[in-house]
Amino acid sequence: MPDQVQQTEQYGVEHLAIIMDGNGRWAKTRGRPRSFGHRAGVEAVRRTVRNAPKLGVRHLTLYAFSSENWSRPADEISDLLGLLKFYVRSDLADLAAAGVCVRIIGSREGLKPDILNLINMAESKTAHNSKLYLNIAFNYGGRDEIVRAVQKVVDDPTGVVAKGGKLTVEDITAAMDTARGPDPDLVIRTSGEKRISNFLLWQIAYAELVFVECMWPDFDMEHLTAAFEEYRSRDRRYGGVVSAEGVAL
Ligand code: FPP
Repeated sequence: MPDQVQQTEQYGVEHLAIIMDGNGRWAKTRGRPRSFGHRAGVEAVRRTVRNAPKLGVRHLTLYAFSSENWSRPADEISDLLGLLKFYVRSDLADLAAAGVCVRIIGSREGLKPDILNLINMAESKTAHNSKLYLNIAFNYGGRDEIVRAVQKVVDDPTGVVAKGGKLTVEDITAAMDTARGPDPDLVIRTSGEKRISNFLLWQIAYAELVFVECMWPDFDMEHLTAAFEEYRSRDRRYGGVVSAEGVAL
C-alpha cells in the first residue's frame, strides 16, 4: 500500500466529515432492534478511523449525536450514550497509541458529569497526538455552534467587538469548535438520504458532498475509496472560475 504522503497527493482530502446514517434501517432489515444497528455502527466507526488516514485524511469529523437526537425515545438515547461512553472507554488507549488526537465538538451545556469527565479524559489523554485529529460531534448542532461562536466573539473582552472593530469571517471561524483544523473538503452521508441535517453548516461552504447508498454499519474501505474517487472527479472552484489546482477554465 502506498504511504500516506503519496495517498494525500492522490485524493487531497485533508478533512473528511461523515454523517453516519442508517443504523436503524440496517437493523430493521435484519429484524433486530435499532440498538443492534448502533452497535454495528461502532464497528464501522472503528474501521473508518483506521482506514481514513491510509487515504491521507488528517482530520476526521463524525456526527455521533445531534442536538435533535434528544427527541428520540429514552431507551434509544440511553443506548446511544452508553455506546459512546463504551467506545471512549474501550478504545481510548488504542486511539492514543495510534497517534489520534480526540476532540468532542458540540455544546457542553446540560451534559451530565460522567459524560463531561469522559470527554475531558479523552481530550487530555490524546492532546499531544497529531497523526489523526478525530472530532466526534456530540450534542452537536450547526446553528447552535454558530450562535455559540458569535457569542464567544461578542463576549471576548479583548476581541474585535470590544475594540469596536468590524466582525470578519475569520473571527467566527476561529471561535468555532473546529477551529484547530481546515474546513472539510468532503462530506459523506450514508443511507441514501440527501440532507445536511444541521451538520457543520459554517464549515461546509465549499465542501464536496457525496451521498452513498449503503447503510452506515456496512460502510467499509471499498465505500470510502469509491467516495474519494467521486471527490477526485469533482472540479472544486470555490465560487470562482479557476480550479483548485490553479488551472484557468
Ligand atoms: C443515524 O442512524 C446514526 C446515529 C443517530 C448515531 C450514530 C452513532 C454511532 C454510529 C455509534 C456511536 C458513535 C461513535 C462515534 C462511537 P439512524 O439511527 O438515524 O438510522 P435510521 O435513519 O436508519 O433510523
